[in-house]
Amino acid sequence: MLFFTVVLIFYLSLSQPVSATTSPLATLSYATYSGLTLPNNVNQFLGLPYAQPPLGPLRWRSPSPPLPSPSPSSQPIPATEFKPICLGAGVSYPTQGQSEDCLYANVWAPANATTKSKLPVWVFIQGGGYNALTNYNWNGSEVVEASGYGVVVVNFNYRVGIWGFLAGEGVELNVGLRDQRGLLGWVKREIVQFGGDPGQVVIHGASAGAGSVAMHLVAHGGRDDGLFHGAILESIFFPAQPFVGELGWQFDRVLNQTGCQGGNSTERMECLRGADVKVLQEVANHAQPFPGRPDPPLPIFYWTPCIDGELIEDLPYKLFKEGKNIKVPVMMGTASNEGTVFTPNITTSLEFTTHFSNNYPLLTDSDTTAILSLYTPPQFNTTPYFDPPNRAPLYSALATAYGESTFICPQTNVLNYLSTNTTDTSPTWAYRYNVHDDENTRDGLGVPHLWDAAAVWGPGNINPWDRTGSYRTYNKGLVGRVRGYYFGFVKYLDPNGGKLGTEPEWEGWVGGNETATMTTTRRRRRRLLFETGGTRMEVLGGEETQRCGFWLGLGEGRMEQR
Ligand SMILES: *[C@@H]1O[C@H](CO)[C@@H](O)[C@H](O)[C@H]1NC(C)=O
Ligand SMILES: *[C@@H]1O[C@H](CO)[C@@H](O)[C@H](O)[C@H]1NC(C)=O
Ligand SMILES: *[C@@H]1O[C@H](CO)[C@@H](O)[C@H](O)[C@H]1NC(C)=O
Ligand SMILES: *[C@@H]1O[C@H](CO)[C@@H](O)[C@H](O)[C@H]1NC(C)=O
Ligand SMILES: *[C@@H]1O[C@H](CO)[C@@H](O)[C@H](O)[C@H]1NC(C)=O
Ligand SMILES: *[C@@H]1O[C@H](CO)[C@@H](O)[C@H](O)[C@H]1NC(C)=O
Ligand SMILES: *[C@@H]1O[C@H](CO)[C@@H](O)[C@H](O)[C@H]1NC(C)=O
Repeated sequence: MLFFTVVLIFYLSLSQPVSATTSPLATLSYATYSGLTLPNNVNQFLGLPYAQPPLGPLRWRSPSPPLPSPSPSSQPIPATEFKPICLGAGVSYPTQGQSEDCLYANVWAPANATTKSKLPVWVFIQGGGYNALTNYNWNGSEVVEASGYGVVVVNFNYRVGIWGFLAGEGVELNVGLRDQRGLLGWVKREIVQFGGDPGQVVIHGASAGAGSVAMHLVAHGGRDDGLFHGAILESIFFPAQPFVGELGWQFDRVLNQTGCQGGNSTERMECLRGADVKVLQEVANHAQPFPGRPDPPLPIFYWTPCIDGELIEDLPYKLFKEGKNIKVPVMMGTASNEGTVFTPNITTSLEFTTHFSNNYPLLTDSDTTAILSLYTPPQFNTTPYFDPPNRAPLYSALATAYGESTFICPQTNVLNYLSTNTTDTSPTWAYRYNVHDDENTRDGLGVPHLWDAAAVWGPGNINPWDRTGSYRTYNKGLVGRVRGYYFGFVKYLDPNGGKLGTEPEWEGWVGGNETATMTTTRRRRRRLLFETGGTRMEVLGGEETQRCGFWLGLGEGRMEQR
C-alpha cells in the first residue's frame, strides 16, 4: 500500500518524472515505467521496450516505435527485471533468457537528475560477432556513480544471426543495424525523461558493436541524422561482409531448410514470416561452410551485415577513404592479442591458410600463402608477437594474423582515413591495451579481446567477462585510469577532459609519416599504451604499419571488409 501511494504521488508530479524514491518513474511518450533507486543513488530501469516486438509480419523489417499503452491513466509498468536477449545462432529453442521478442533497453541515471539536467548520454552497443549477443546486461550503475553522477548510461539488445542479418529478395536488409538506429531514435525522443541530453549522445561499441559504430559513421554515405555526437570503437570488428547480390546461396539455403522455396517473392516472405520460430532457429540459424569451402572449420561469423547499397552504400573502407562519414570525434582502442580467443590450437600451414579462407572466402591461395609468410618467424619477432605456453607451433602466428586482420589493422586503417582528410577536422584518438593478467598468460591468451572492458565498467559489472581477479588486486588501478579517459570523452568529447591527474596527455592520432616540420601536437601514429605499470604514448612501428597496409589492400578487395 505504501509502495502504491509513493508511486501514485510521483506519478502525479509529471514535471519531475525521475525522482529519488525507491520507485522512480519515467514518463515516456508511450507509457510510464517504474524503476528502482539503488543504494548508490542511481536510478535503474530495466527491460524498457524501444520498439514493437519484431514478430510475425514485423520479422526482417525496420523496428517500429512502441505502441502507446492503452490508457493514459493506466498503472506504471514495472521496469525492474532484464528482458530476454535476442536469439543467437546455434542455440536450441526454447532457450532460457533468449527470445525473438527482444528489443529492450536498460537505463542507469543519477537519482537526482531531472528533465532539466541534460547530462551526456553514453549508449553502449554490445558485441557478439553479429551472430549472438555476448555483452548483454552489463551494469551501468557504478560508472554513473564514478562519473560524479554526470552521465546517463543506456544499453540494449538488437537482432543478430538470421533474425538480424538475413539477406535476400523481399527482406529488409541489415535490420540488426536498423534496430540500433531505432534505439538511437528512442534515445533522442525519450532520454530527457531520464535526465539525459539528446544533443550529446556518445555511442560506444565493443567488438561487433564497434563494427556497428563504424557503419553508423558511414551510414547513408555519411548522412548526419543527428543520432550521435561522438563515437568510441572498442576493438572494432571487421569480418567479411559481402554485397547483398553475393548472398543468394545463403538465402536459398534458408528457403530450402524452411520449405519456403515455392511461389514468388511475396509468397516466400509470407512463408518465412509465418514460419515457426523453432524451425527457423534450429534448422536455419547456424553456421555452415561458405560455398566451395571445406567443413570443418566452420566460419566463426556466418551472418554479417551486407552491403545493401542504401544503409551501407559500399565497402566502408571505401566510404571512409572518400570522406563519406559523419564528422564527429572518434576514440578507438584494441588489445594487444585480439585474435587469441578466436584461434584454434593449430600445427600445420594448411590449418593456418584454411582458417583464413574459411572465414574470408574470396581470398585466393596466393593471398593465404602471403599471409602465412608474413606471420611466420623469423621475420615476425617483434611486438605484438608473443610466445604462449602450451600451444601448438602455429597458434601464435595465426592468433596474431587474425587479430591484426580483423581488429587491430581495421582500427589503424580507419583512423588513417579519418585523420588524413583535411576537410575533416574532428579529432581522433587511439589506444592499445597491453595490461598483463596471470591467468590470461597461463591460458595462452596474451592480452585478449575486450580485456579492457572490465576496467571501463568495473569488475563485477560485466560478468562473466571479468573472470579473473586481477582487477581487484594488481590491476585495480587500471579501473580509474581507463575510466577517466572514457568519462572525458563521454562528457567533453575529449578523453583528456576526464583523465586522472597522474595520467599522460593523450595525443590525437594522425596517420602518415613524420616530417621535419611536424609540431609536437600533431605527431604521427601516436597511440596511448595502457599497461599494468603505467600509461604512456607509443609510436606505431614501421613493421606493424606495413602489415596494416597489406591488410588494407586485401580488405578493400577480397577480404570484403567494412
Ligand atoms: C546528485 O547527487 C550526487 C550524490 O548523490 C551528487 O554528487 C551530485 O552533485 C548531485 N548532482 C546534482 C546536480 O545535484
Ligand atoms: C548494478 O550494480 C549496483 C551496484 O552498483 C547494484 O546495486 C544493482 O543491484 C546492480 N543491478 C543489477 C541489475 O544487477
Ligand atoms: C534447394 O532445393 C532444390 C530442390 O530440392 C535444389 O535444387 C537446390 O539446389 C537447393 N538449394 C540449396 C541452396 O540447397
Ligand atoms: C505472387 O503470387 C500471388 C499468387 O499467385 C499473386 O496473387 C501475387 O500477385 C504475386 N505477387 C507478385 C508480386 O507477383
Ligand atoms: C575528404 O572528405 C570530403 C567530404 O567531407 C570529401 O569530399 C573529400 O573527397 C575527402 N578528401 C579526400 C582526399 O578523400
Ligand atoms: C595445443 O596443442 C599442443 C600440441 O599440439 C598441446 O601440447 C597443448 O596442450 C595444446 N594446448 C591447448 C590449450 O589445448
Ligand atoms: C611512409 O614512409 C614509408 C617508408 O618509410 C613509405 O613506404 C610510405 O609510403 C610512406 N607513407 C606515406 C603515407 O607517406
